[in-house]
Amino acid sequence: MVSIGVVGTGGWGKNHLRVLAQLDCLAAFCDIDPDRVKHYSKVHAVPGFLNVDEMIANTRLDGIVIATPTSTHYELAMKSLEAGIHTFVEKPLTNESKTGKKLILLAEERGLTLAVGYIERFNPAVQHLRELLDRNRYGPLILLELHRENRWPERVIDIGIVMDTSVHDIDTARWLFGSDPETAYARTGSLRGSREDFATIILGFGGGRTAFIFSNWVTPKRVRQASAVCAEGIISVDFINQKLQIDHEMGSIIPRIDPKEPLQLEMINFISSIETGSPPLVTGRDALKNTIVAEAILESSAKGEAVRLAGYI
Ligand SMILES: NC(=O)c1ccc[n+]([C@@H]2O[C@H](COP(=O)([O-])OP(=O)(O)OC[C@H]3O[C@@H](n4cnc5c(N)ncnc54)[C@H](O)[C@@H]3O)[C@@H](O)[C@H]2O)c1
Repeated sequence: MVSIGVVGTGGWGKNHLRVLAQLDCLAAFCDIDPDRVKHYSKVHAVPGFLNVDEMIANTRLDGIVIATPTSTHYELAMKSLEAGIHTFVEKPLTNESKTGKKLILLAEERGLTLAVGYIERFNPAVQHLRELLDRNRYGPLILLELHRENRWPERVIDIGIVMDTSVHDIDTARWLFGSDPETAYARTGSLRGSREDFATIILGFGGGRTAFIFSNWVTPKRVRQASAVCAEGIISVDFINQKLQIDHEMGSIIPRIDPKEPLQLEMINFISSIETGSPPLVTGRDALKNTIVAEAILESSAKGEAVRLAGYI
């Protein structure tokens, strides 16, 4: 049985606790907030610690999940990898590509799994879309339009919307096109906080193929949708209710998709990577590329011009 410890039990980390407990893999957790430690040790009946060092020193762990604010990912992931423990880091891997690269090199040097939480790859509707594209069912994909919009009234976090939110769609676009963008052009702005809270992004892939990404923390309706324009049909995906619709010459099709919890599929994938040594679905290198693209997007917005993405890693 694989033993996993979770670092951070906030808005998202508490879901990791629940899912890992359901999978019988939750061995321990830590949080710098003593109230959370007290609460979740009662809920899950596993030891809770006030920091990652204590958790590592007092528990036999095969894997660690890091679900803390992004600015802490590098230091915590370093500790986990240096202790020889397979590591899952929530997205984005780190807040800058320079530190992300160090984590990847260390994980590779030690032969450890480094997985990253780009969860939409585990969304059954997105997986169905990817299968249709792989089978070339509706011809080649030429254009993607991705929307992730939702009002966050009191959002105080350590990074802006591009690094926090658009990165999901950067990853999905890279995964669906099966390649990395060559250019990035973006405009971003801020209505509420000190960091950008809306972004409109154009990513240029090979062969004139393009992804348009629309992200904002401003508008009131929660929208998470994608539209994949293929030569023989348009496939629309709703990430929230895991629904997919295909519009083609003969009419519309709504395939039956069994809803599943993406986080559970993601954790099963991490556990299986620990057990078998096979790479996780989202590798550290994938995640680093997403960070590099996000950096190019911010650079493009600051300069007001398109940025060419040359070498990735
Ligand atoms: N994959 C997804 O869909 C998804 C969704 C939400 C958040 N996230 C990611 O999860 C991470 C956490 O986000 P959140 O919304 O849960 O944040 P949060 O602020 O709600 O929770 C962070 C928790 O980490 C704890 N913490 C902070 N520093 C710590 C440290 N050094 N050691 C131990 N605990 C520490 C805090 O006390 C808090 O309980 C972020 O990287 C975010 O991008 C991913």
